[in-house]
Amino acid sequence: MAITCSDQPRADELRQRLGARGQSHVLRFWDVLDDSARRGLAAQVAAIDLAAVERAASAARGHAQQASPRLAPVEVERLPARGGEAWTHARSAGEALLAAGRVGVLVVAGGQGSRLGFSGPKGALPIGPVSDRSLFALQAQKIRRLRTRYDARIPWYVMTSEATDAPTRALFAREASFGLPAGDVCFFRQRMMPAIDFEGRLILDRPDHIFESPDGHGGVIPALAASGALDDLEARGCTHVFYYQVDNPLVRIADPVYLGLHTDSGAEVSCKVVAKRDPMEKVGHVALVDGRVGIVEYTEIDPVQRDARDASGALVHRAGAISIYVWETTLLRRLSRDADRVLPFHASPKPIPTVDEAGRAVTPSAANGWKLERFVFDGLRCAKRVAVVETDREEYSPVKNACGGESPMTAKRDLSALYRAWLAEAGIALPPGAGLVEVDESSFGGADDFFARGITRVAQAGDAIRIASGANR
Ligand code: UTP
Repeated sequence: MAITCSDQPRADELRQRLGARGQSHVLRFWDVLDDSARRGLAAQVAAIDLAAVERAASAARGHAQQASPRLAPVEVERLPARGGEAWTHARSAGEALLAAGRVGVLVVAGGQGSRLGFSGPKGALPIGPVSDRSLFALQAQKIRRLRTRYDARIPWYVMTSEATDAPTRALFAREASFGLPAGDVCFFRQRMMPAIDFEGRLILDRPDHIFESPDGHGGVIPALAASGALDDLEARGCTHVFYYQVDNPLVRIADPVYLGLHTDSGAEVSCKVVAKRDPMEKVGHVALVDGRVGIVEYTEIDPVQRDARDASGALVHRAGAISIYVWETTLLRRLSRDADRVLPFHASPKPIPTVDEAGRAVTPSAANGWKLERFVFDGLRCAKRVAVVETDREEYSPVKNACGGESPMTAKRDLSALYRAWLAEAGIALPPGAGLVEVDESSFGGADDFFARGITRVAQAGDAIRIASGANR
C-alpha cells in the first residue's frame, strides 16, 4: 500500500507532546531516521501514557525519600494437619467451590526471566524430573486432575508479556493445550512500561526506540480487566481466583484445603507464606504495614526490620510470601477500577541499555535508571480482610536462576522428593538404584489417590510413575 502524507508522523505534534512533559530528547535522532523508523517511534510514543510515567517518576522519587513503613508481625494461620477435623472441614468447603465451577486459575507467566537466561518463556522450561515436561505441562496435569475429580471446567488464565506471548501461545497450540479444552485456556498480555533515568526521562535503547519492560506482576489486574478476562471469569460464575507464579513447580493448584480456609476466614484475599529461612531470602515480607496487612518486597524492606529477631532468636518478620493467593473476583474488579491509585509503580535502580550521543548501543555496568513495576500484592491493602496461611516448604521451590539455588536443578530435586514422599506414604517401594522420580499429576495428586485406586506397586501405575536410575535424586 502506498504511504500517503497523512501516514507520516507529524514531528511538530510529537515534539509538542513530548516537550510538554520534558521528554524532547526522545526525538534527538529524528532527523536521521528513515520514514519507517519515524513511524515506529511515533507509534511507540503514542502508546505510552506520559502522565503515568510522570506520576511513577515522582512516586519513585518520593519513595526514595520516605521513611520505611512501620511493620508489625502479622497473625498467621497454620495449614491444618492433614486428615484432622479442621483439614477435612476446609477441604469439603473448597471442594464444594470447585465442584460448583466457582474457581478460576490464574498464572502470571510474563516478565522477562532475565536471571534465568533461558531463551523461551519460563513456562516452557523443562522441569519434569524424569520426563523433562515443561512447567506449563506439569501445571496443566494438575488442572486436568481437578477437572476430572470435580467434574468442573476450571478455566485457566495465562498472563503473558510482550516477550512471552507468541512463544507461549505457539507452545500451547503445538501441545494441543496440554490436553485441556482450548476454550478453557485464556491468554492475555500484560502491558509494557518505559524505564526512566534518575531525572525521570525516558531512555532510548535505539535511536528509534524507547526502552520498555513488562509492568510487573501487578500489571495482571489492569490487564485482566482490559483484556476481557475478568468479564469472562464473571460470566462463568467464578467467584474465586487461584493465583500463582509460573516458576514454582511445587504449587498445589487450587488446593481445596486452601480454598476452604479462605472461604471460612471471610477474607477477600488469602495469601500463603512460608517461614523465611534467613533474613536475606528473596521473598516478600507479609506484615502489618502501618496497621494493615500488606507485603513489603525484599528489595524495599529496611535492613533493620528485615534482620530483627525476637527474644527466642526467631525472625520477627518471618512470614515470607510465596505468591500464592486466593482472590475474590469482586476484589479484583474493585482493584481494576482504581489500579493507578491502588497499584502504584515501584522503582528499582537497574542498568538499562541505552545509546550514546552518536546513537551507538551502550550496555551500562551500573544502574543508570529505574525500571518501573507494579506489585500484585499492593492489592492486599485494599481488602476488607486478608487471611495469611502458613504452608510448608513442600509447596515452594521457584526457578529463578540458571544454576545454584532456585534453579532447574533444585526444582527437579524438590519435585522428585515430593513424589518420593507420596510413594513412601502409599507404601509403594522404589526399585533399587532409583534416582529421580516423577508422578503424572493428571492421575495422582498425593498418596490418597494411590490408596483410592488400590495401587501398591510401581508397575500398576503404568506410565504415571516414572523413575530414572542413578545417584541423582
Ligand atoms: P520474577 O519477579 O521472578 O521475574 O517473577 P521474572 O521476570 O520471572 O525473572 P527476572 O526477575 O527477570 O529474573 C515472578 C513471577 O511473576 C511473573 C513471572 O513470570 C514469574 O512467574 N511476572 C513477573 C510477570 O508475569 N510479569 C512481570 O512483569 C514480572
